[in-house]
Amino acid sequence: MLIAHLSDPHLRPKGVLYQDLVDSNAMFEAALRHLDRLSPRPDVVLMSGDLVDEGSQQEYQLARELLGTLRLPLLMIPGNHDAREVMRRSFSDHTYLPASGPLHFVAAEFGPVRIVGLDITVPGTHHGDMDDAAVAWLEEAIARSPDRPTIIMLHQHPFDSGIPYIDKYKCRRGERLADVVSRYPAVVRVLCGHIHRHMQMKFGGTVLCTAPSTTTAIALRLDPDASPASYVEPPAMLLHHWTESRGMITHFVPIGSFRGPLPFA
Ligand SMILES: [Fe+2]
Repeated sequence: MLIAHLSDPHLRPKGVLYQDLVDSNAMFEAALRHLDRLSPRPDVVLMSGDLVDEGSQQEYQLARELLGTLRLPLLMIPGNHDAREVMRRSFSDHTYLPASGPLHFVAAEFGPVRIVGLDITVPGTHHGDMDDAAVAWLEEAIARSPDRPTIIMLHQHPFDSGIPYIDKYKCRRGERLADVVSRYPAVVRVLCGHIHRHMQMKFGGTVLCTAPSTTTAIALRLDPDASPASYVEPPAMLLHHWTESRGMITHFVPIGSFRGPLPFA
């Protein structure tokens, strides 16, 4: 099973630049073209939040237009820059999304790995929260098939990354998520967006990966009083490759056209 994972495109209305500086829409189109060239083709595409930048109707309209070219199934959760209700309305044909409340979902039909989308966003704020309702929903969702290989996807990172200005906006009470995960060894990955950088760590006994953005990268500044900044680093996506014998391998896939193929060795 091949699972492509894109994050944080921060789409703007047609013709508008992200932060007046970066053409996030064109960068997302490039990501979709790259995705379309992958061989073998992924079974499903995950989007871990911040599909758009301001949560406006016009932004979601453009998102729909661009995603209309995607010939693969897509599973999305919202990020802090999305607007939960506008997103729900704009993607009412995404029937895995519930009709009310947080945009949690369970998708079990794309292969051996079950995908659990966990919406820990707190509308109107930038941080996330593993509140009582999210803990209860997740427990119930995983317990339905406790031994099934499972990915849990959420937007905000549930740990301190060491980059101070993004940690202000992490998923609070992340230890509650780690506690649930630690009780289900079949959870093969916890996946996040939000940080706009690729990171890997051990979390609740499993592997947690954060996805790069298809747009800008948050500056890698580990000084406790570092000031916030972003860079237009090479955009990238993740590709999670599951086989029964090896388990899950996560590949980092830069987006673009690169010189090659050159002779090997
Ligand atoms: Fe973001």
